[in-house]
Amino acid sequence: MRIVLGVSAGIAAYKAVHLARLLTEDGHQLDVIPTEASLQFVGRATWEAISGRPVTTSVFSGVDEVRHVRLGQEADLVVVAPATADLLAKARAGMADDLLTSTLLATQAPVLLAPAMHTEMWQNPATAENVRQLRARGLEVMDPAVGRLTGADSGPGRLPEPEQIKARIDQLLSAAGETGELTGRRVVVTAGGTREPLDPVRYLGNRSSGKQGMALAQAALQAGAEVTLIAGSMDAPLGPELQGAEVVRIETAEQLHQAVRVETERADALIMAAAVADFRPADYAAAKIKKTDDGASPTITLTRNPDILADVVSRRSQTGGPAVIVGFAAETGDETTDPLQLAQQKLQRKGCDLLVLNRVGENLVFGQDSTEIHILAADSVKDRLAGQHAEHVAGTKQQAAAAVISTLSRLLGS
Ligand code: CTP
Repeated sequence: MRIVLGVSAGIAAYKAVHLARLLTEDGHQLDVIPTEASLQFVGRATWEAISGRPVTTSVFSGVDEVRHVRLGQEADLVVVAPATADLLAKARAGMADDLLTSTLLATQAPVLLAPAMHTEMWQNPATAENVRQLRARGLEVMDPAVGRLTGADSGPGRLPEPEQIKARIDQLLSAAGETGELTGRRVVVTAGGTREPLDPVRYLGNRSSGKQGMALAQAALQAGAEVTLIAGSMDAPLGPELQGAEVVRIETAEQLHQAVRVETERADALIMAAAVADFRPADYAAAKIKKTDDGASPTITLTRNPDILADVVSRRSQTGGPAVIVGFAAETGDETTDPLQLAQQKLQRKGCDLLVLNRVGENLVFGQDSTEIHILAADSVKDRLAGQHAEHVAGTKQQAAAAVISTLSRLLGS
């Protein structure tokens, strides 16, 4: 999603740096618009480094691209943190003498203002009246936190904590998602690992943490999709950011297969991020397998699990199925083969539309918050992407998820 972060001139501007980081780590495209005076607190270089985008304060930069109107028009959400008493007054009056106030005037996206000022200024009738008016116009003005202020004083006026502002942004974005790129679309995401039971206490499992799948489900929700998350074993519990998704829990590959068949019947897209065990123990021991006195080790015979992804692809060609099918490949490569080459072969073998390659190794990908992916498109869909999709993303799993969802939306929309 595209977020504009306005920063006005309060000492709490330093906290907005953390907020900016939380937003970019979630995969959002962030444009920071500081007021000229706020650069006394946090400089342009910091904002450019964190957002990875150019930062200007004046309506006279980027005139050719009509920046003072465009940023506001294109934003999915505008947040101002900290919003000073002066900024609130200007916003209420509809002033537009710099890039931030012009953006506030031009945007039709939800606006969230997070005030920070001394208690006296917050409680001054002028500010109170400005806040009332802004709220009456549909802008959301958060209540400032109560606590220690810049000097020795304390009271209401502190900037709400960045995590709290971020949580409110998430809620506003998922509400706005009702009109997002995937509005009215059904997306099924599989996530986590499967566990193949050996006896009542043991199983064969894998190191999938489920983080990438959860990030994909979250990104699809934010884009407005109806999401079903088919979840296997995961490191972390499902967080509040997945509220709104229907969750189906599975344990084994066979249960996953069954759930995918049922859930994809009416789905527009399937994203197979789950790490499916290719094999399961051929026999399940109803009682715990015990050590024997002769010191012998038991032999476990394995049998093949169905290839769920390949099955959905082949059923689609016979009786129909999701318009877009996305597979994942976790590859290490070796001295002679490049992971990208293996992934290309897998894309063809599996017959899916998109294949997301994760490079895996000792410390890469599994359980980590960062990742490196390549998004490969089948020849049959390349035309529809017109070379416009992100082919390589190195960043957080949320950033990777945002790129996959944006590519998928492009395919569903074309
Ligand atoms: N997959 C599946 N059913 C399986 C195994 C894998 O649907 N039994 C899916 C995964 O969810 C993933 C993709 O297929 O989207 C690729 O999985 P991967 O295990 O990397 O591929 P394999 O086909 O098992 O190939 P390899 O043996 O090369 O690892």
